Amino acid sequence: MTAKIIDGKQVAAEMREELKLQVAQLKTKGVTPGLAVILVGDDPASKSYVTAKEKACEEIGMHSDDNRLPAETTQAELMALIDKCNKDPKVHGILVQLPLPKHINEDEVLPAIDPAKDVDGFHPVNVGRMVVGQEAYLPCTPHGVIQLLLRSGVELSGAEVVIVGRSNIVGKPLANMLIQKSKTGNATVTVCHTRTKDIAAHVQRADIVIAAAGRPNTITAEMVKDGAVVIDVGVNRVEDASKKSGYRLVGDVDFEAIKQKASLITPVPGGVGPMTITMLLYNTVQSATKALNR
Ligand code: GUN
Repeated sequence: MTAKIIDGKQVAAEMREELKLQVAQLKTKGVTPGLAVILVGDDPASKSYVTAKEKACEEIGMHSDDNRLPAETTQAELMALIDKCNKDPKVHGILVQLPLPKHINEDEVLPAIDPAKDVDGFHPVNVGRMVVGQEAYLPCTPHGVIQLLLRSGVELSGAEVVIVGRSNIVGKPLANMLIQKSKTGNATVTVCHTRTKDIAAHVQRADIVIAAAGRPNTITAEMVKDGAVVIDVGVNRVEDASKKSGYRLVGDVDFEAIKQKASLITPVPGGVGPMTITMLLYNTVQSATKALNR
């Protein structure tokens, strides 16, 4: 079997067209959705994500407020900026790009964001609401993965899903979302991690494999069942002298080999990545809509 490639750019473009119309509607009512983006330090990957997020905002007519702070910024300075954004009526969403420098405590910073503006869905209030099935901002990458699956016609109800990776950003929230009693859930979920005894034995059972381990070739073709759906959340830079930048991006799965076995597979780049940004825009538009109705 040769897999059909899930075109994340295409699905994202369709959703962004819908969001563009909603932004235009909001503008006629005097509200321009605004996202405050905060980046501390100069990690090259984070810089390129943040630039892509800001560009995406502008493309659909949203306002983005760019805050790039030096690596030496103190936690108190960062908290003061978050407080200012919390109070600013033009800001509907606040995004603090992770990871933060070592001297800043993420567990103290994320709860400082107003949960109503927490468009990343990382605030413990939103995490808790999501877990118990209440309305909440859903974290962008897991939500993007679920939208990709649904819009590609993949049945989630009753599916055996194996997630490899247990991060707070992807693995944990994705597992919680997929077990909810709802049409975006109803799956049977296994989460594998660095202490799992035999990852291959779990992956072999999976109708849907989701790789979010942050390591190239974590999932090889021998591990995957014929006809499985394979979603690759990994974004890894590997050296490549033939590229002008000196590197190329690869995911966590052995794409070329698995393509011969899976029924559907996402590429890297061009799979999950564009969906993450789209769901960020989606959450910010939701927040602006709520602000209008308050
Ligand atoms: N770092 C990696 N992914 C994300 C994300 O979705 N949001 C933020 N804020 N930082 C990240």
